[in-house]
Amino acid sequence: MVRVAVLVSGSGTNLQRILDAQKEGKLAPAEVALVVSNRKAAFALERAKAAGVESAVLSKAMEPDPVIWDEKLLALLRARRIDLVVLAGFLMILGEKVVSAYENRIINIHPALIPSFSGLGFYGLRVHEAALARGVKITGATAHLVNRDVDGGPILIQKAVELLDGDTPESLQRRVMEQAEWVILPKAVQMAAGRLEEQKKAEERA
Ligand code: GAR
Repeated sequence: MVRVAVLVSGSGTNLQRILDAQKEGKLAPAEVALVVSNRKAAFALERAKAAGVESAVLSKAMEPDPVIWDEKLLALLRARRIDLVVLAGFLMILGEKVVSAYENRIINIHPALIPSFSGLGFYGLRVHEAALARGVKITGATAHLVNRDVDGGPILIQKAVELLDGDTPESLQRRVMEQAEWVILPKAVQMAAGRLEEQKKAEERA
């Protein structure tokens, strides 16, 4: 089994799709072992509780120093023997220690077709506002691996979504979630976990 930690900040609809996929047997060898939120009030924590998954809160209020925050997160991930980290609507930039300790083992879901509307400052509704302002006809979502460049790691899966006349940032955000994010994120988690499991087996044989 590949032990997964899902990091969240808000409503947690992407987390829910991962938990649903697990229930339907579509996530193995991945298994969600931990949910971490940087916001105490995130509804995602309720979803973790309902699914019987352990959760933890690590907020800026609890630890204002970003370097120590990063170290605390790394200590938590190690204590729970986490193999793979998933950023599912996690609206903070991870620190260097976690990113290098989990190189090629952190997945992010971004609500646009990277490299469009990505990088620093492009998160949540802002991404959809920018797509509408530019007048693109197609947007979508990207599941990718995380490295030091914000939204710059290798792409795992992308899915396109058409813009419609009369779209608002909110209507577009909802459609991108329904048609793209919720579809590709559980698949990317399963895919990355499968690769990790293969790697582990190869290392054991060596
Ligand atoms: C999702 O649209 C996700 O792609 C986005 O935040 C939303 C969280 O929704 N993430 C980013 O913008 C990251 N740059 P959720 O909490 O319901 O999953």
